[in-house]
Amino acid sequence: MRTIVALPGDGIGKIVLPEAIRLLDAAGFNANYVWGDIGWEFWCKEGNALPQRTIDLIAEHKIALFGAITSKPKDAAEKELDPSLQGKGYVYFSPIVGLRQHFNLDICIRPCISFKGNPLNFIRKTRDGGFEEPLVNAVIFRQNTEGLYSGVEWTNPPKQVRDALETHPKMKAYSHVPGEELAVSTRIVTKKASERIIRAGFEYAKKHGYKNLTLCEKPNVLRETSGMMFRIAKEIAKEYPEIALWNTNIDAQMMWLTKNPEDYGVIVAENMFGDIISDGFAGLIGGLGFAYSANIGNNVAIFEPTHGSAPKYEKLNPSIVNPIAMFMSAVMMLEYIGENKIAAKIKNAIAKVVKEGKVRTYDMLKLKGGPDVFEKGAASTQQMTDEIIANL
Ligand code: NAI
Ligand code: MG
Repeated sequence: MRTIVALPGDGIGKIVLPEAIRLLDAAGFNANYVWGDIGWEFWCKEGNALPQRTIDLIAEHKIALFGAITSKPKDAAEKELDPSLQGKGYVYFSPIVGLRQHFNLDICIRPCISFKGNPLNFIRKTRDGGFEEPLVNAVIFRQNTEGLYSGVEWTNPPKQVRDALETHPKMKAYSHVPGEELAVSTRIVTKKASERIIRAGFEYAKKHGYKNLTLCEKPNVLRETSGMMFRIAKEIAKEYPEIALWNTNIDAQMMWLTKNPEDYGVIVAENMFGDIISDGFAGLIGGLGFAYSANIGNNVAIFEPTHGSAPKYEKLNPSIVNPIAMFMSAVMMLEYIGENKIAAKIKNAIAKVVKEGKVRTYDMLKLKGGPDVFEKGAASTQQMTDEIIANL
């Protein structure tokens, strides 16, 4: 029997993850779940939101389902730390970012595929004044470990860094700026990581029959980093003659989101551009209740909804949040480990429930979240799970 590490985290992560396990059980997925400590509670009690024992569990079992965590700014984090730990140099870091770095989960996959009948789907005006609903079927491959989020940045860079920067002719424009008025974030792209994310994109396109792969960057301006990615993409594309390589700029791509989103299949981008473009596409298919992702490395894979811990709603009982993003994360996990039949069974049940529209969480009814959504016809998180289970 397979062992899955369950990492509920904080807030609604503690609600949607157990619901996903209830669904997986009902669908006949035979697994053993071990629960890992992660999140705010462990920051407050131990000064570490990602304890070593949790890292060890994931290293042992290699597959994890993750809910969501709460992150707070530095000062707020320090204040909530157990008094016995305060002032001892503990620094909060986001445990999910920590996991991506620790296990080198460099490939982030974010499918944005619309369910028919989802009232939150994007619609567009037609020439004759009517409306049409394009089928969005885009899968974003986001480089997850480097790029502009690599964390190599300074305010008031140390002298050595400043001196090194000044060797670049374009730096002359800033030579008069006092150090404390100068902030620098670097965008680091490596050949190896670019090859991995681009190849992963092509492989996925091939396996799932996508006809095009779009590299969404800005090589005309970011000549070095985007330029390197584009050169590598052209090289790798030769191995996949059946898939067309498209090259779009991130800014134009955001405009095309609402113009012709149905034209795009697999999209590959650097960390920040991938973050932006995947949120953009997620908006077309229902937003946070429907956005899910996989973080994949060589040895470990972690599956998670894109949403956070939604602290506004964590105390509502019954819960109002939409569990579908978490469920689809679990479906991705099943596909990753080759449980395709059970994955399809769950996906079809979700599609049926969304299409029928009898049971909808508050977000699907476009209501403002709160305890009164049930009077307005919204289903609870648990009712949504029940309905999906009934349709398996
Ligand atoms: P959020 O994703 O928690 O919530 C944004 C909005 O969407 C809120 O109105 C929320 O109630 C709603 N929402 C979220 N998930 C939903 C669901 N499944 N169904 C229906 N509505 C849903 O982001 P926010 O409010 O910016 O951050 C809250 C906390 O979550 C912060 O501490 C933040 O750092 C953390 N966070 C964690 C992430 C993770 O664990 N990967 C990702 C994003 C934020
Ligand atoms: Mg984001």
